[in-house]
Amino acid sequence: MRPLRLLALAALASSQALLKPQPSSFNSTFTLTAAQIAAANLSAAVANNVNVAAQFERSNWATGSVRDDPFYTSLPANASSAAAGAVLKVEAWTDTSRYTVPPTLALSRIVYQSLTLNGTRVPVSAYVLWPYLPRRHRGGAGGRKTAPLVSWGHGTSGLFAECAPSHIRNLWYQFSAPYALALAGYAVVGTDYAGMGVPFFPDGGNITHQYIASPAAGNDLLYAAQAAQAAFPDRLSKEFVVMGHSQGGGAAWAAAQQQLTARVPGYLGTVAGSPVTNPIELTVALGNSLGLLLTAKSFLSVFGELSLSDMLTPAGVAAVNLLDEIQGCNSVFNTLLGDLLAADPRLALTRDEFVSSPYARLFGNLTLAGDRDFAGPMLVLQGTADQNVPEPLTTEYVNKTCAAFPHHELRYVRASAVSHTPVMYATQQIWMDWLDERFGAGVGGGHGRRRDGEGFGRHTGRCIVQEIGSDAPQPLGHYQGGLNYFLEYSLDDYQVA
Ligand SMILES: *[C@@H]1O[C@H](CO)[C@@H](O)[C@H](O)[C@H]1NC(C)=O
Ligand SMILES: *[C@@H]1O[C@H](CO)[C@@H](O)[C@H](O)[C@H]1NC(C)=O
Ligand SMILES: *[C@@H]1O[C@H](CO)[C@@H](O)[C@H](O)[C@H]1NC(C)=O
Ligand SMILES: *[C@@H]1O[C@H](CO)[C@@H](O)[C@H](O)[C@H]1NC(C)=O
Ligand SMILES: *[C@@H]1O[C@H](CO)[C@@H](O)[C@H](O)[C@H]1NC(C)=O
Ligand SMILES: *[C@@H]1O[C@H](CO)[C@@H](O)[C@H](O)[C@H]1NC(C)=O
Ligand SMILES: *[C@@H]1O[C@H](CO)[C@@H](O)[C@H](O)[C@H]1NC(C)=O
Repeated sequence: MRPLRLLALAALASSQALLKPQPSSFNSTFTLTAAQIAAANLSAAVANNVNVAAQFERSNWATGSVRDDPFYTSLPANASSAAAGAVLKVEAWTDTSRYTVPPTLALSRIVYQSLTLNGTRVPVSAYVLWPYLPRRHRGGAGGRKTAPLVSWGHGTSGLFAECAPSHIRNLWYQFSAPYALALAGYAVVGTDYAGMGVPFFPDGGNITHQYIASPAAGNDLLYAAQAAQAAFPDRLSKEFVVMGHSQGGGAAWAAAQQQLTARVPGYLGTVAGSPVTNPIELTVALGNSLGLLLTAKSFLSVFGELSLSDMLTPAGVAAVNLLDEIQGCNSVFNTLLGDLLAADPRLALTRDEFVSSPYARLFGNLTLAGDRDFAGPMLVLQGTADQNVPEPLTTEYVNKTCAAFPHHELRYVRASAVSHTPVMYATQQIWMDWLDERFGAGVGGGHGRRRDGEGFGRHTGRCIVQEIGSDAPQPLGHYQGGLNYFLEYSLDDYQVA
């Protein structure tokens, strides 16, 4: 299996260290302080579980804390004056030895200028994942060594600076899209979104991540593409597609709306997987509590006159403050909230009446993805068994958008019996073909697959609705339902299987 290792054995023999079983421990000794445990009223069991989840998260930091990494904290002098889409910093080569990226991919990181929801300039970090063999594309003719560019929007990783995919070993979404894209020959610029990664504005103020405010993250997606092209002009295509899933699906859809005014050159279209459309309707559909906890700080960043206690009970405020203080991301969030509610199912963390307040209505209107004009074409992907973004909500917004803007090309693919992140796997052939069509490669098929809407689906103007799953060779219930693997960092050669 690993001949080099065998050949190297003789050389190693004299300096042999004792092997340890993996994992022998996390690479983190994080422990809540007594004051933190008391302030959040945690039982010993909950505190233990939060410690374990935080140690897990921190063990997955490829480059340590973003607060200790000058890449994220030290900005050049032009950071306050540069226009949106400007590149502020380039790390042309990022050492991947502490990441879990597939062989024959390479990594860079950039910091660039984006715009928050109200148009304030904000510095944002992103990774660029490079293919080895660029995929054939229209702009790649004439011997230019450019790779076609996809600007990727990740789903929820958390709310805080430390939740940035660019410093997580598997770049957070791994094979569901960014690894698959890069292995298929695309360069992927993966924004962290404003407030994750780069923690401070140039004046030193904290950047709040405007969670689920899709147009803000949509700006991050568009300007990430523009900045990556500025950073690597000879190596990236002049054209790009925006793509995202979940929070990032909403961001991608909103990017298509923002593009009407942003007009970033080279835009070819959008892929929106399991998109957040109306964040307020989604919060209500999911039963308020978790959604409001995640969104509370985002509300504050939009409506300065609000305070956390307008949205959350004292227990909810304590939970959000603890998460902020310890920079807890998805694992810590889910562990803390799950444990608190398991210990006391009647524990109220949110003031659910807030979702019918004028603030919530206005936030919903300001942040809507869908039922708005957009720069087409767009491909929307949705699983019918999605627990996080219910299929009827996405269908409702596809319907509204198609009815209001029937001249735009919108293709909606519904995957039967497929859940949230797995929809990106179930539909991979569809979005890969769609990307080829956008970039002008392989036009006319040649892959032996059916083309848009051919022989199936419903046409409504230029809207095409397509259902998949009925051709599956096995009964739908036999398919692996969720994502039950995780890419673990290997500490020694014997662990690579
Ligand atoms: C703290 O939690 C316990 C249950 O673990 C509960 O009985 C008590 O009321 C809580 N105290 C406060 C101040 O919320
Ligand atoms: C463990 O974390 C420390 C501190 O962040 C870092 O210096 C070290 O490289 C990490 N070890 C591994 C194996 O990632
Ligand atoms: C901002 O300054 C950095 C560092 O000097 C430079 O690399 C970058 O190109 C500048 N960006 C713009 C848009 O001028
Ligand atoms: C715009 O939003 C930023 C944060 O994104 C905030 O600091 C600023 O005060 C807001 N400006 C206005 C005019 O609301
Ligand atoms: C900025 O964030 C840090 C860490 O979360 C926090 O300790 C500090 O109070 C914040 N500063 C302001 C002005 O909000
Ligand atoms: C929602 O926003 C749209 C445009 O963005 C505006 O025309 C409409 O009046 C707003 N509706 C409400 C209820 O605020
Ligand atoms: C969407 O439109 C289709 C076709 O008109 C209709 O059958 C379906 O009920 C609509 N669904 C929702 C959730 O609006």
